[in-house]
Amino acid sequence: MPLIAPSVLAADFANLQAETQMLNASTADWIHVDIMDGVFVPNISFGLPVTAAIAKHATKPLDVHLMIQQPERYLEAFRDAGANVLSVHYEACPHLHRTLQQIKDLGCKAGIALNPHTPVSLLSDILPMADVVCLMSVNPGFGGQKFIEHTYAKVRALKAMIQEAGCATLIEIDGGVGQGNAKALVEAGADVLVAGSSVFAAANPAAAIEALKNI
Ligand code: DX5
Ligand code: ZN
Repeated sequence: MPLIAPSVLAADFANLQAETQMLNASTADWIHVDIMDGVFVPNISFGLPVTAAIAKHATKPLDVHLMIQQPERYLEAFRDAGANVLSVHYEACPHLHRTLQQIKDLGCKAGIALNPHTPVSLLSDILPMADVVCLMSVNPGFGGQKFIEHTYAKVRALKAMIQEAGCATLIEIDGGVGQGNAKALVEAGADVLVAGSSVFAAANPAAAIEALKNI
């Protein structure tokens, strides 16, 4: 069974307490929190105070996806705001080894997110340090985009690298995930599925989460 990480980017921001309580009561495993700075990605979402507000009500781990330049400047602040998993983008980190070590020293799980054009082979020398690799299956910046089919090949290649290295890194898929592709993604080797619009646009979001969990 995959871990399911609904993305609150698609939630009702004026009702985050109720949305978080819905996720607490659901079969979701993690709560995915998308941070966008308007520089690394062409959109701004929300930041530290909103993350802390979600954390105040959440009973599940916060999976914080930093789509920001120079994420090393904010790691401690996001840990203090309640992050449990902290993912930084490969493309935003010239000193990725140091950045992952900083995340671990803060007591969080360390994730590396890869844009759709970034090959998984670039991770060969860093993979054992990553608790999670988040493969972007859309170009980051917006919810509700179409899933990029090439992601399957990346999942299979990354799974082979993880097995070869003998590490326990989880493969997370983020963008355009729903009932139509969840099963194929898990069969290809995905461990964690992020889902924004397919959960929150559903008539019954808790049922949509349950359906993804039981694919
Ligand atoms: C995109 C974000 C995603 C987004 C996914 O930049 O990283 O987490 O919320 O939304 P959907 O599931 O709607 O593609
Ligand atoms: Zn995300």
